[in-house]
Amino acid sequence: MACVETSSSRPYHLVIFGASGFTGQFVVEEVARTVSEGPNGNLKWAVAGRSKQKLEKVLEQAAGVLSKPELRTEVDIIVADIEEPDTLAAMCKQAVIVLNCVGPYRFFGEPVIKACVENGAHHIDISGEPQFLESMQLNYDSQAAEKGVYIIGSCGFDSIPADMGVLYTRDQFKGTLTAVESFLTVGSGPDGACIHDGTWQSAIYGFSDSQKLQTLRRKFNHKPLPTVGAKLKRRGNLFFSNEIQQYTLPFMGSDPSVVKRTQRFLVEEHEATPVQYGAYAGVGGLGSVVKLIFAGMMFWLLVKFSFGRNLLIKYPEFFSFGFFSKAGPTRKQMESSSFQFAFYGQGYSEDQDPSQGKPDAKIRTLVQGPECGYVATPIAMVQAALTILNECKALPKKGGVYTPGAAFAKTTLINRLNKHGIQFSVI
Ligand SMILES: NC(=O)c1ccc[n+]([C@@H]2O[C@H](COP(=O)([O-])OP(=O)(O)OC[C@H]3O[C@@H](n4cnc5c(N)ncnc54)[C@H](OP(=O)(O)O)[C@@H]3O)[C@@H](O)[C@H]2O)c1
Repeated sequence: MACVETSSSRPYHLVIFGASGFTGQFVVEEVARTVSEGPNGNLKWAVAGRSKQKLEKVLEQAAGVLSKPELRTEVDIIVADIEEPDTLAAMCKQAVIVLNCVGPYRFFGEPVIKACVENGAHHIDISGEPQFLESMQLNYDSQAAEKGVYIIGSCGFDSIPADMGVLYTRDQFKGTLTAVESFLTVGSGPDGACIHDGTWQSAIYGFSDSQKLQTLRRKFNHKPLPTVGAKLKRRGNLFFSNEIQQYTLPFMGSDPSVVKRTQRFLVEEHEATPVQYGAYAGVGGLGSVVKLIFAGMMFWLLVKFSFGRNLLIKYPEFFSFGFFSKAGPTRKQMESSSFQFAFYGQGYSEDQDPSQGKPDAKIRTLVQGPECGYVATPIAMVQAALTILNECKALPKKGGVYTPGAAFAKTTLINRLNKHGIQFSVI
């Protein structure tokens, strides 16, 4: 089944699992919006989750927001619960692709991937949890390859803009690109912005367990990736970035891990030149730095103990200065928020040998888009799914567990994103 066509005989091309979650509801809206566009008009889709009533409510809400009353009656509901493997199997048998929005993935992700692999459904998630993503690669890559199933993780804001942004920068560079640094800035309107509790919980459990990631990585037995060209220097833990004119720190999310896995795949499968990568995120001015140091210290202190983790989980607003909340952002906040990734690449022009001397050429690119978590993430997830459906011949030959960059390097995903509000450009 390595190559999927939109003419699959399964009842649904797309099944959104966890459709009743905070993020899931926006994925439902994005699917509803996108499948009414010309070429996708014949796609069949369903929502899935553990509560039929909640799923009905989500469809009701989407019908109102999008002025599409037919969503109430025309979209099927599948009841499936992580705790009941038979229901997951039944869901996966009906889907060409499962869009999995049930997180934290470290607790809920594996049974869904297992069911997808065993029942021949492709799987896309929006996890930003390296430990989950890498352990799924370790445990399911060969089974997924045997079954011709694509398991593609981190297809949301984590880490499509960063991973595809590095590939875009490489492809636009005239010569051999050897290193890229990205600087993320996030903008919000007068009402501010925040992130829903689901991501806060994923972060808490991820940080509390971070030592296990090193043990997991040793199991891959990977040789270090070769360094081509001048070695990219790591910046400090907090510095003023001239690139984005604000205080900046290393990006704590999954982007560096995902980009590195993509680069390894491209080196091993396509003998590409590896691109070194450093990811940074802007914090703002001095006031924000003080808040961040204070919140960061509290977080590190509390996250180590179960009592502390319970406190963090109970009071996200308090411990994150309102940056995370149980209610999540309002639609108004989301409408006025945006992100921008600035990529600074360096390398060797066409007539230069990357193994000799200093880089002699630079490039600057941008990936920018709407609010990260609940606008850009559904766009990225849905476009990733449509790419699997429509461009199966451009995916890697075998199924397997892939990063977005590894899966989509040869597809038109970037063009698709450009058309849907996540824009890639060269400065
Ligand atoms: N990559 C990104 O940029 C990005 C952006 C946004 C979110 N995320 C990730 O997406 C995940 C979800 O976040 P969220 O804020 O949407 O969380 P959420 O609102 O808590 O949603 C969790 C979903 O999981 C479902 N669920 C929980 N236990 C289940 C079970 N036993 N069986 C079936 N479904 C179950 C919930 O169902 P009920 O509704 O029935 O409780 C709900 O639909 C998190 O891991 C978050 O980090 C990533």
